[in-house]
Amino acid sequence: MRNSVLITGANRGIGLALARHYAALDWEVVATARQPDAAGELQALPAGSARVEIVPLDLTSPASRQALAEWLAGRPLDILLHNAALLGDPAPQEFGRLDYSLFHDSLETNLVGPIHLSELLLDNLQQGRQRKLVFLGSAAGSHGLLGPGLKLYAYRASKAALHFAVHELAGDLASRGITVGLLNPGLVDTQGVLDRAPGEPVPRAFQPLLPLIESGELELLRPAEAAARIATLIASLGPEQAGRFINVDGSELPW
Ligand SMILES: NC(=O)c1ccc[n+]([C@@H]2O[C@H](COP(=O)([O-])OP(=O)(O)OC[C@H]3O[C@@H](n4cnc5c(N)ncnc54)[C@H](OP(=O)(O)O)[C@@H]3O)[C@@H](O)[C@H]2O)c1
Repeated sequence: MRNSVLITGANRGIGLALARHYAALDWEVVATARQPDAAGELQALPAGSARVEIVPLDLTSPASRQALAEWLAGRPLDILLHNAALLGDPAPQEFGRLDYSLFHDSLETNLVGPIHLSELLLDNLQQGRQRKLVFLGSAAGSHGLLGPGLKLYAYRASKAALHFAVHELAGDLASRGITVGLLNPGLVDTQGVLDRAPGEPVPRAFQPLLPLIESGELELLRPAEAAARIATLIASLGPEQAGRFINVDGSELPW
């Protein structure tokens, strides 16, 4: 029997790279997208004989979360991988200009939705063999890594809250044989910075980071490399890492 993984937000970025990675390993991949019909790169999978199913999920919608759970009812899942997130534009995340609709959507997408979906899919995970519930957190949501300059109220607050909820979950689910992991993917080039043509402008979000990236102080990973490292970490995830915040290089990060 094949291993199985459900990856949220798998139509682009790290999620797409993860779907590609697991499909190439011949896993059964359930890949979610808000708009499956527009998920061209996902549709171009599977690689080899792998089975990739693309299913709709909008994490801001309780009905969409419920529909996914109903669609999956009775099917074992080895890994539930919460990748999807809403970063949001920086301008409406500055105090004095806060967009509360974006704030609300960030909390639903990055915190409430993933925890609700974990509750809904608990039976599926318990029927699986690996029983791993994994969340992609962010260094931007770590109190211990607080640094100046990054003003993303909704994203940072929602990720910090997610970290806390994951910490609680790790304790609650250990007795049910489920290992809960929280991983930081590091800085990942989801916008083609590394592969841009000569003279092509650097996306705005990366401009302040470019000197650090070019000096080697900051590592910018290609999505495929990040996905491979994340999958390796998940493969070795055991009860001793549960409830810890693990960086893509395997080191432990402060909360
Ligand atoms: N990239 C980095 O450097 C970095 C660093 C630290 C942490 N992370 C974390 O790693 C994960 C993946 O990041 P990424 O850079 O690959 O993100 P991304 O390129 O922005 O992709 C985000 C994915 O989440 C989906 N999504 C957004 N809102 C959603 C909703 N309401 N319901 C369902 N899906 C939704 C998006 O779907 P649409 O295409 O429909 O918008 C997309 O598939 C996130 O959890 C992020 O916080 C990334």
